[in-house]
Amino acid sequence: MSNSITFIGMDLGTFRTSAVSSNGHQAELETVVGWPKDHIAESLLGKPVVYGSEVIEHRMSLDFVRPFGHGVLKFNSHTERGLDEKQVEKHRKAARLLVDQVVSQVEPNPSGPIYGVVGMPSRATIVNKEMVIEATRSAFDAVMLVPEPFAVAYSANRLSETLVVDIGAGTIDLCPMFGTFPNDEDQLTIPFGGDEVDEELYNRILEACPDARISKKMVREIKEKHGFVGTTEDHVVISLPVKGKPTDIDITEHIKHACAKLLPPIVECVVELVARFEPEFQDCLLNNILLGGGGSQLKGLPEQLEIALQPYGGGNVRRTHDSVYAGATGALKLAMGMPMEYWSKLENSRAVSKAKAA
Ligand SMILES: Nc1ncnc2c1ncn2[C@@H]1O[C@H](COP(=O)(O)OP(=O)(O)OP(=O)(O)O)[C@@H](O)[C@H]1O
Ligand SMILES: [Mg+2]
Repeated sequence: MSNSITFIGMDLGTFRTSAVSSNGHQAELETVVGWPKDHIAESLLGKPVVYGSEVIEHRMSLDFVRPFGHGVLKFNSHTERGLDEKQVEKHRKAARLLVDQVVSQVEPNPSGPIYGVVGMPSRATIVNKEMVIEATRSAFDAVMLVPEPFAVAYSANRLSETLVVDIGAGTIDLCPMFGTFPNDEDQLTIPFGGDEVDEELYNRILEACPDARISKKMVREIKEKHGFVGTTEDHVVISLPVKGKPTDIDITEHIKHACAKLLPPIVECVVELVARFEPEFQDCLLNNILLGGGGSQLKGLPEQLEIALQPYGGGNVRRTHDSVYAGATGALKLAMGMPMEYWSKLENSRAVSKAKAA
Protein backbone atom coordinates (compact mmCIF):
# COMPACT_ATOMS: atom_id res chain seq x y z
CA MET A 1 0.00 0.00 0.00
CA SER A 2 1.34 3.41 -0.91
CA ASN A 3 0.77 4.99 2.53
CA SER A 4 1.81 2.08 4.76
CA ILE A 5 5.08 2.19 6.73
CA THR A 6 8.27 1.19 4.93
CA PHE A 7 10.95 -0.30 7.17
CA ILE A 8 14.54 0.04 6.04
CA GLY A 9 17.68 -1.66 7.34
CA MET A 10 20.90 0.15 6.48
CA ASP A 11 24.58 -0.58 6.92
CA LEU A 12 26.42 2.70 6.72
CA GLY A 13 30.06 1.94 6.01
CA THR A 14 33.27 3.86 5.46
CA PHE A 15 33.60 2.19 2.07
CA ARG A 16 30.18 0.81 1.19
CA THR A 17 26.58 1.57 2.15
CA SER A 18 23.88 -1.04 1.74
CA ALA A 19 20.16 -0.99 2.42
CA VAL A 20 17.24 -3.42 2.34
CA SER A 21 13.57 -2.43 2.53
CA SER A 22 10.42 -4.16 3.71
CA ASN A 23 9.23 -3.74 0.10
CA GLY A 24 11.73 -6.38 -0.93
CA HIS A 25 14.26 -4.06 -2.59
CA GLN A 26 17.97 -3.88 -1.87
CA ALA A 27 20.70 -1.49 -2.96
CA GLU A 28 24.36 -0.91 -2.29
CA LEU A 29 26.76 1.78 -3.34
CA GLU A 30 30.27 2.93 -2.58
CA THR A 31 30.14 5.61 0.14
CA VAL A 32 31.30 8.49 -2.02
CA VAL A 33 29.54 11.54 -3.44
CA GLY A 34 30.76 13.86 -6.20
CA TRP A 35 29.78 17.16 -7.79
CA PRO A 36 30.78 18.13 -11.36
CA LYS A 37 33.71 20.59 -11.26
CA ASP A 38 32.17 22.90 -13.88
CA HIS A 39 29.30 23.22 -16.32
CA ILE A 40 31.16 21.21 -18.97
CA ALA A 41 31.50 18.30 -16.55
CA GLU A 42 27.85 18.67 -15.54
CA SER A 43 26.56 18.58 -19.09
CA LEU A 44 28.82 15.62 -19.85
CA LEU A 45 27.57 13.69 -16.82
CA GLY A 46 23.99 14.92 -17.20
CA LYS A 47 23.40 15.33 -13.45
CA PRO A 48 24.32 17.69 -10.62
CA VAL A 49 25.36 14.96 -8.12
CA VAL A 50 27.03 11.60 -8.74
CA TYR A 51 27.19 8.62 -6.36
CA GLY A 52 29.19 5.45 -5.75
CA SER A 53 31.34 3.76 -8.37
CA GLU A 54 30.29 6.32 -10.98
CA VAL A 55 32.22 8.91 -8.95
CA ILE A 56 35.40 6.88 -9.17
CA GLU A 57 34.86 6.31 -12.88
CA HIS A 58 34.55 10.07 -13.55
CA ARG A 59 36.79 11.33 -10.72
CA MET A 60 38.78 13.66 -13.00
CA SER A 61 35.70 15.78 -13.68
CA LEU A 62 34.33 15.70 -10.13
CA ASP A 63 34.90 17.30 -6.82
CA PHE A 64 34.19 14.38 -4.47
CA VAL A 65 34.16 13.41 -0.79
CA ARG A 66 33.93 10.21 1.20
CA PRO A 67 31.63 11.51 3.93
CA PHE A 68 32.59 8.83 6.46
CA GLY A 69 36.24 8.40 5.50
CA HIS A 70 39.15 8.54 7.98
CA GLY A 71 37.25 7.29 10.98
CA VAL A 72 34.65 10.05 11.22
CA LEU A 73 32.01 7.38 11.76
CA LYS A 74 33.98 5.90 14.60
CA PHE A 75 36.51 7.93 16.49
CA ASN A 76 36.86 11.42 15.10
CA SER A 77 34.61 14.29 14.41
CA HIS A 78 35.14 16.14 11.14
CA THR A 79 36.81 18.96 13.03
CA GLU A 80 39.25 16.57 14.71
CA ARG A 81 40.19 15.43 11.22
CA GLY A 82 41.40 18.93 10.58
CA LEU A 83 38.63 19.98 8.18
CA ASP A 84 37.55 23.60 8.11
CA GLU A 85 33.91 24.60 8.54
CA LYS A 86 33.22 24.72 4.80
CA GLN A 87 34.62 21.21 4.30
CA VAL A 88 32.68 19.90 7.32
CA GLU A 89 29.48 21.24 5.79
CA LYS A 90 30.32 19.57 2.50
CA HIS A 91 30.85 16.22 4.24
CA ARG A 92 27.55 16.57 6.10
CA LYS A 93 25.75 17.43 2.88
CA ALA A 94 27.35 14.46 1.11
CA ALA A 95 26.26 12.15 3.95
CA ARG A 96 22.65 13.40 3.69
CA LEU A 97 22.58 13.08 -0.10
CA LEU A 98 24.04 9.60 0.06
CA VAL A 99 21.47 8.36 2.58
CA ASP A 100 18.64 9.94 0.54
CA GLN A 101 19.98 8.28 -2.61
CA VAL A 102 20.25 4.78 -1.15
CA VAL A 103 16.80 5.11 0.46
CA SER A 104 15.25 6.13 -2.87
CA GLN A 105 16.88 3.09 -4.49
CA VAL A 106 15.03 0.71 -2.15
CA GLU A 107 11.73 2.27 -3.24
CA PRO A 108 9.84 3.17 -0.04
CA ASN A 109 6.06 3.69 -0.26
CA PRO A 110 5.71 7.23 -1.60
CA SER A 111 3.30 8.64 0.95
CA GLY A 112 3.85 6.49 4.04
CA PRO A 113 6.33 6.99 6.89
CA ILE A 114 9.82 5.47 6.68
CA TYR A 115 11.31 3.84 9.77
CA GLY A 116 14.99 2.95 9.64
CA VAL A 117 17.48 0.93 11.66
CA VAL A 118 21.10 1.82 10.88
CA GLY A 119 24.15 -0.30 11.72
CA MET A 120 27.00 1.73 13.23
CA PRO A 121 30.52 0.82 14.40
CA SER A 122 30.50 -0.77 17.86
CA ARG A 123 32.20 2.02 19.74
CA ALA A 124 30.92 5.04 17.82
CA THR A 125 30.91 8.12 20.03
CA ILE A 126 27.92 10.31 20.81
CA VAL A 127 29.25 12.86 18.29
CA ASN A 128 29.45 10.21 15.56
CA LYS A 129 25.94 9.01 16.37
CA GLU A 130 24.57 12.53 16.17
CA MET A 131 26.24 12.94 12.81
CA VAL A 132 24.52 9.82 11.48
CA ILE A 133 21.15 10.86 12.90
CA GLU A 134 21.63 14.20 11.17
CA ALA A 135 22.48 12.44 7.89
CA THR A 136 19.30 10.34 8.04
CA ARG A 137 17.02 13.19 9.12
CA SER A 138 15.52 13.95 5.73
CA ALA A 139 15.23 10.28 4.71
CA PHE A 140 13.63 8.69 7.79
CA ASP A 141 10.65 9.59 9.96
CA ALA A 142 12.18 7.64 12.83
CA VAL A 143 15.63 6.13 13.15
CA MET A 144 17.39 3.78 15.55
CA LEU A 145 21.14 3.08 15.60
CA VAL A 146 22.51 -0.37 16.46
CA PRO A 147 26.04 -1.80 16.57
CA GLU A 148 26.90 -3.17 13.13
CA PRO A 149 28.08 -6.62 14.35
CA PHE A 150 24.83 -6.95 16.31
CA ALA A 151 22.90 -6.46 13.05
CA VAL A 152 25.10 -9.10 11.39
CA ALA A 153 24.37 -11.56 14.24
CA TYR A 154 20.66 -10.81 14.00
CA SER A 155 20.58 -11.58 10.27
CA ALA A 156 22.29 -14.92 10.87
CA ASN A 157 20.08 -15.82 13.86
CA ARG A 158 23.21 -16.10 16.00
CA LEU A 159 21.98 -14.12 18.97
CA SER A 160 23.62 -16.10 21.72
CA GLU A 161 27.07 -17.47 22.48
CA THR A 162 28.59 -16.05 19.33
CA LEU A 163 31.43 -13.62 18.83
CA VAL A 164 30.87 -11.47 15.74
CA VAL A 165 33.93 -9.94 14.08
CA ASP A 166 33.00 -7.44 11.36
CA ILE A 167 35.97 -6.63 9.14
CA GLY A 168 35.34 -3.40 7.27
CA ALA A 169 37.45 -0.96 5.28
CA GLY A 170 38.06 1.41 8.20
CA THR A 171 37.63 -0.71 11.31
CA ILE A 172 37.23 -4.19 12.70
CA ASP A 173 34.32 -4.39 15.16
CA LEU A 174 33.97 -7.16 17.74
CA CYS A 175 30.74 -7.88 19.56
CA PRO A 176 29.94 -10.86 21.80
CA MET A 177 26.33 -12.04 21.71
CA PHE A 178 24.61 -13.41 24.82
CA GLY A 179 20.97 -13.35 23.75
CA THR A 180 20.45 -9.69 24.59
CA PHE A 181 21.33 -6.22 23.28
CA PRO A 182 25.13 -5.90 23.76
CA ASN A 183 26.60 -3.43 26.26
CA ASP A 184 28.96 -0.79 24.95
CA GLU A 185 31.74 -1.94 27.27
CA ASP A 186 31.54 -5.54 26.00
CA GLN A 187 32.40 -4.45 22.47
CA LEU A 188 35.65 -3.46 20.80
CA THR A 189 36.52 -1.46 17.70
CA ILE A 190 40.00 -1.79 16.20
CA PRO A 191 41.08 1.22 14.13
CA PHE A 192 42.37 -1.03 11.39
CA GLY A 193 40.77 -2.60 8.34
CA GLY A 194 40.95 -3.28 4.61
CA ASP A 195 42.20 0.26 3.88
CA GLU A 196 45.43 -0.43 5.80
CA VAL A 197 45.97 -3.66 3.85
CA ASP A 198 45.52 -1.69 0.61
CA GLU A 199 47.96 0.99 1.78
CA GLU A 200 50.59 -1.61 2.68
CA LEU A 201 50.19 -3.42 -0.65
CA TYR A 202 50.34 -0.14 -2.58
CA ASN A 203 53.57 0.90 -0.83
CA ARG A 204 55.17 -2.51 -1.27
CA ILE A 205 54.40 -2.66 -5.00
CA LEU A 206 55.77 0.85 -5.56
CA GLU A 207 58.85 0.13 -3.46
CA ALA A 208 59.57 -2.97 -5.54
CA CYS A 209 58.77 -1.27 -8.81
CA PRO A 210 58.92 2.56 -8.47
CA ASP A 211 58.12 3.21 -12.13
CA ALA A 212 54.91 1.16 -12.14
CA ARG A 213 51.66 3.07 -12.64
CA ILE A 214 49.06 1.88 -10.16
CA SER A 215 46.13 3.47 -8.32
CA LYS A 216 44.66 2.72 -4.86
CA LYS A 217 41.50 1.44 -6.57
CA MET A 218 43.55 -1.04 -8.65
CA VAL A 219 45.31 -2.21 -5.49
CA ARG A 220 42.00 -2.81 -3.71
CA GLU A 221 40.68 -4.80 -6.66
CA ILE A 222 43.88 -6.87 -6.83
CA LYS A 223 43.57 -7.63 -3.10
CA GLU A 224 39.89 -8.60 -3.46
CA LYS A 225 40.69 -10.94 -6.34
CA HIS A 226 44.00 -12.46 -5.24
CA GLY A 227 44.32 -11.70 -1.52
CA PHE A 228 44.98 -14.55 0.91
CA VAL A 229 46.09 -15.21 4.45
CA GLY A 230 48.49 -18.10 5.01
CA THR A 231 50.21 -19.84 2.15
CA THR A 232 49.49 -20.41 -1.51
CA GLU A 233 51.03 -22.54 -4.17
CA ASP A 234 49.98 -20.18 -6.94
CA HIS A 235 51.96 -17.13 -7.88
CA VAL A 236 50.12 -13.83 -8.14
CA VAL A 237 51.38 -12.08 -11.26
CA ILE A 238 49.84 -8.80 -12.41
CA SER A 239 50.47 -6.69 -15.46
CA LEU A 240 51.20 -2.99 -14.85
CA PRO A 241 52.37 -0.22 -17.14
CA VAL A 242 56.04 0.52 -16.38
CA LYS A 243 57.44 3.48 -18.36
CA GLY A 244 54.52 3.03 -20.72
CA LYS A 245 55.10 -0.69 -21.33
CA PRO A 246 52.81 -3.45 -19.89
CA THR A 247 55.05 -5.44 -17.55
CA ASP A 248 54.38 -8.62 -15.55
CA ILE A 249 55.15 -8.26 -11.85
CA ASP A 250 55.09 -11.13 -9.34
CA ILE A 251 53.42 -9.70 -6.22
CA THR A 252 52.90 -12.99 -4.31
CA GLU A 253 55.13 -12.00 -1.37
CA HIS A 254 53.76 -8.43 -1.22
CA ILE A 255 50.14 -9.52 -1.14
CA LYS A 256 50.95 -12.22 1.42
CA HIS A 257 52.61 -9.73 3.78
CA ALA A 258 49.97 -7.04 3.31
CA CYS A 259 47.03 -9.40 3.97
CA ALA A 260 48.85 -11.03 6.91
CA LYS A 261 48.61 -7.67 8.73
CA LEU A 262 44.90 -8.29 9.39
CA LEU A 263 45.37 -11.38 11.53
CA PRO A 264 47.41 -10.23 14.61
CA PRO A 265 45.07 -7.36 15.66
CA ILE A 266 42.04 -9.66 15.31
CA VAL A 267 43.67 -12.42 17.40
CA GLU A 268 44.83 -9.94 20.03
CA CYS A 269 41.40 -8.35 20.40
CA VAL A 270 39.48 -11.65 20.34
CA VAL A 271 41.71 -12.91 23.16
CA GLU A 272 41.41 -9.65 25.11
CA LEU A 273 37.62 -9.49 24.76
CA VAL A 274 37.01 -13.16 25.53
CA ALA A 275 39.17 -12.95 28.67
CA ARG A 276 36.60 -10.53 30.17
CA PHE A 277 34.05 -13.35 30.54
CA GLU A 278 33.73 -16.38 32.80
CA PRO A 279 35.57 -19.52 31.58
CA GLU A 280 32.51 -21.42 30.25
CA PHE A 281 31.45 -18.37 28.20
CA GLN A 282 35.03 -17.97 26.96
CA ASP A 283 34.88 -21.44 25.50
CA CYS A 284 31.53 -20.80 23.80
CA LEU A 285 32.70 -17.54 22.23
CA LEU A 286 36.02 -18.93 21.00
CA ASN A 287 34.22 -21.80 19.33
CA ASN A 288 31.49 -19.71 17.68
CA ILE A 289 33.16 -16.90 15.80
CA LEU A 290 31.22 -15.35 12.95
CA LEU A 291 33.12 -13.16 10.47
CA GLY A 292 31.22 -10.39 8.67
CA GLY A 293 32.07 -7.36 6.51
CA GLY A 294 33.91 -7.31 3.19
CA GLY A 295 37.24 -8.32 4.77
CA SER A 296 35.73 -11.65 5.87
CA GLN A 297 35.96 -12.73 2.22
CA LEU A 298 39.74 -12.83 2.30
CA LYS A 299 40.85 -16.33 1.30
CA GLY A 300 42.22 -18.44 4.15
CA LEU A 301 41.21 -16.01 6.90
CA PRO A 302 38.80 -18.28 8.86
CA GLU A 303 41.26 -21.19 8.72
CA GLN A 304 44.25 -19.09 9.82
CA LEU A 305 42.25 -17.49 12.61
CA GLU A 306 41.29 -20.95 13.87
CA ILE A 307 44.98 -21.97 13.90
CA ALA A 308 46.02 -18.76 15.69
CA LEU A 309 43.36 -19.27 18.36
CA GLN A 310 44.25 -22.89 19.10
CA PRO A 311 46.65 -22.02 21.96
CA TYR A 312 43.73 -20.19 23.64
CA GLY A 313 41.30 -23.09 23.33
CA GLY A 314 39.66 -21.93 20.07
CA GLY A 315 38.23 -21.86 17.68
CA ASN A 316 35.54 -22.44 15.21
CA VAL A 317 35.33 -19.63 12.68
CA ARG A 318 32.75 -19.12 9.95
CA ARG A 319 31.80 -16.37 7.51
CA THR A 320 28.37 -14.75 7.14
CA HIS A 321 26.28 -15.95 4.22
CA ASP A 322 26.37 -12.51 2.57
CA SER A 323 29.15 -10.08 3.40
CA VAL A 324 27.51 -7.15 1.58
CA TYR A 325 23.92 -7.31 2.86
CA ALA A 326 24.14 -9.21 6.19
CA GLY A 327 24.26 -5.99 8.28
CA ALA A 328 21.41 -4.31 6.38
CA THR A 329 19.29 -7.48 6.43
CA GLY A 330 19.75 -7.84 10.19
CA ALA A 331 18.90 -4.16 10.68
CA LEU A 332 15.69 -4.62 8.63
CA LYS A 333 14.75 -7.69 10.67
CA LEU A 334 15.24 -5.65 13.85
CA ALA A 335 13.17 -2.78 12.42
CA MET A 336 10.29 -5.05 11.48
CA GLY A 337 10.33 -6.82 14.86
CA MET A 338 10.32 -3.61 16.91
CA PRO A 339 7.08 -2.89 18.83
CA MET A 340 5.08 -0.10 17.18
CA GLU A 341 4.87 1.97 20.38
CA TYR A 342 8.66 2.13 20.38
CA TRP A 343 8.68 3.62 16.88
CA SER A 344 6.01 6.17 17.69
CA LYS A 345 8.12 7.36 20.63
CA LEU A 346 11.07 7.83 18.29
CA GLU A 347 8.85 9.56 15.77
CA ASN A 348 7.61 11.99 18.43
CA SER A 349 11.10 12.83 19.63
CA ARG A 350 12.05 13.45 16.04
CA ALA A 351 9.11 15.77 15.62
CA VAL A 352 10.38 17.66 18.67
CA SER A 353 13.87 17.95 17.29
CA LYS A 354 12.46 19.05 13.92
CA ALA A 355 10.43 21.75 15.67
CA LYS A 356 13.54 22.89 17.55
CA ALA A 357 15.52 23.08 14.33
CA ALA A 358 12.82 25.22 12.77
N1 LIG B 1 37.10 -10.75 -1.56
C1 LIG B 1 37.65 -9.89 -0.72
N2 LIG B 1 38.86 -10.16 -0.17
C2 LIG B 1 39.43 -9.26 0.66
N3 LIG B 1 38.90 -8.10 1.04
C3 LIG B 1 37.71 -7.79 0.51
C4 LIG B 1 37.01 -8.65 -0.37
N4 LIG B 1 35.82 -8.05 -0.72
C5 LIG B 1 35.80 -6.86 -0.07
N5 LIG B 1 36.92 -6.70 0.66
C6 LIG B 1 37.31 -5.54 1.47
O1 LIG B 1 36.35 -5.27 2.45
C7 LIG B 1 36.38 -3.88 2.77
C8 LIG B 1 34.98 -3.32 2.65
O2 LIG B 1 34.18 -4.02 3.54
P1 LIG B 1 32.79 -3.40 4.02
O3 LIG B 1 31.96 -3.10 2.82
O4 LIG B 1 32.25 -4.33 5.04
O5 LIG B 1 33.34 -2.05 4.66
P2 LIG B 1 32.54 -0.85 5.31
O6 LIG B 1 31.35 -1.40 6.02
O7 LIG B 1 32.28 0.19 4.29
O8 LIG B 1 33.64 -0.33 6.31
P3 LIG B 1 33.51 -0.03 7.89
O9 LIG B 1 32.66 -1.11 8.48
O10 LIG B 1 34.93 -0.06 8.38
O11 LIG B 1 32.90 1.34 7.97
C9 LIG B 1 37.30 -3.21 1.74
O12 LIG B 1 38.58 -3.02 2.32
C10 LIG B 1 37.35 -4.25 0.65
O13 LIG B 1 38.52 -4.17 -0.13
MG1 LIG C 1 30.95 -1.99 7.87
